[in-house]
Amino acid sequence: MDALEAIRKRRSVREYTGEAIPRADLETIVDAGRLAATGSNQQPWEFIVITEQAMIQQLKAAAQWMDQAGAIIALVMDPSSRWWVEDGAAAVENMLIASTALGYGSCWLEGYTLPREAEFKKLLGIPEGKRLLTLVPVGVPVGWPDKEKKSLKEVLHWEKYGGL
Ligand SMILES: Cc1cc2nc3c(=O)[nH]c(=O)nc-3n(C[C@H](O)[C@H](O)[C@H](O)COP(=O)(O)O)c2cc1C
Repeated sequence: MDALEAIRKRRSVREYTGEAIPRADLETIVDAGRLAATGSNQQPWEFIVITEQAMIQQLKAAAQWMDQAGAIIALVMDPSSRWWVEDGAAAVENMLIASTALGYGSCWLEGYTLPREAEFKKLLGIPEGKRLLTLVPVGVPVGWPDKEKKSLKEVLHWEKYGGL
C-alpha cells in the first residue's frame, strides 16, 4: 500500500481479533514514529512496545476494548524539548499510517490516557521527568470503520480565505 492510500484508509479501529503481531511489524511501526518530523531535530521521543497480556490487561483501564490488541505502544516524551507535543503528535500519526499500511488497526488514545498518566507511568516504569503522551493500541482489525470526513471542498481555500 502506498503512503497516500494508507493515509486515505486510516481510521481509528477499536475492535481487534486478539491475534499476536510479529515483532518485525511492530518495529516497522515504531520506526515510522521515530522518523517523524520534529522541531529542531530534537527527536524527544521514546517508545515502549507492550505485548505481554498481564500489562495489556492493566492498561485496558483506559479502554476496555484494548484487551484484544496485539500490542500497545506507549509514546514517552521529553517535555523539556520545545516542541514535544507537536513532535509527539507527528510520531503518533506516522505510526497510525504505518499500522494501516501493514493491514493493522490502531487508535490514538490520548484522551483516555492522560487522566491515568501517573498510574500508567508507574506501571511502565517511566521516569518522573518524562511524559506519557498517549497509548496506541495496534491489532488485527475485526472490521474497518469508514467514518465520514469533511470534504476537500469544505476545507480547501485557494489563494485566500474563501477563495474558490
Ligand atoms: C489528540 C487525540 C486524542 C484522541 N484520544 C482518543 C481517546 O482517548 N480514545 C479514543 O477512542 N479515540 C481517541 N482519538 C481518536 C479520535 O476519536 C478519532 O481520530 C476521531 O474520532 C476521528 O476518527 P478517525 O480517526 O477514524 O478518522 C484521539 C485522537 C486524537 C487526535
